Amino acid sequence: MFPSDPFQAPLWTVLSSLTHARRILEVGCGHGYTAAVMASAGGPDCRVDTIEGDPDHADLAEQAFKQRGLSKRICVLRGRGLNLLPRLKTRYDVVFLDGDWREYLRYIPHLRRLTRPGSIIVTANLNPLFGGWGGRLPGKPAIESYLTRLLRDPQFRTYVVPGEWHSISVRV
Ligand SMILES: C[S@@+](CC[C@H](N)C(=O)[O-])C[C@H]1O[C@@H](n2cnc3c(N)ncnc32)[C@H](O)[C@@H]1O
Repeated sequence: MFPSDPFQAPLWTVLSSLTHARRILEVGCGHGYTAAVMASAGGPDCRVDTIEGDPDHADLAEQAFKQRGLSKRICVLRGRGLNLLPRLKTRYDVVFLDGDWREYLRYIPHLRRLTRPGSIIVTANLNPLFGGWGGRLPGKPAIESYLTRLLRDPQFRTYVVPGEWHSISVRV
């Protein structure tokens, strides 16, 4: 389980301010580090829904939110992104994909449905496409298909951050 780099923390303050975020969605909660950062960045009126497929990770994240007084503002949704995204109905201002990149392509219809013009989607774990992590990770074709579809989607404008291999997409 790899939480995001703390150097990325200010990104969530910038994106929350830019979108006046009230609702944030994460896929891949881990132990809850970034969800907590996002909730803090969004301020007291901002709520975070975070999807986690591993029950042990979800338990640890919930404990951490409780200890930090964030339980009322962060909701852990247990299950795989692919199964849970179709059930969500709220529109989100910011979405962070940090789970299984092999599912990302199938998230795209839901990303359209669950965002509004001006919403921002950050996608992590594009490294397999660019030979990162020693090229050891599987899933290069899946990332390639996802990114190609996203770059061509008229409802999104997408930028891939060089070196970091995150992408940032704005819903238009
Ligand atoms: C890189 S960690 C997340 C780190 C977290 N976003 C952070 O920055 O603190 C990835 C997490 O995604 C979860 N995960 C992987 N595939 C998933 C999926 N398809 N649906 C939901 N969670 C998934 C893993 O169990 C793991 O806890």
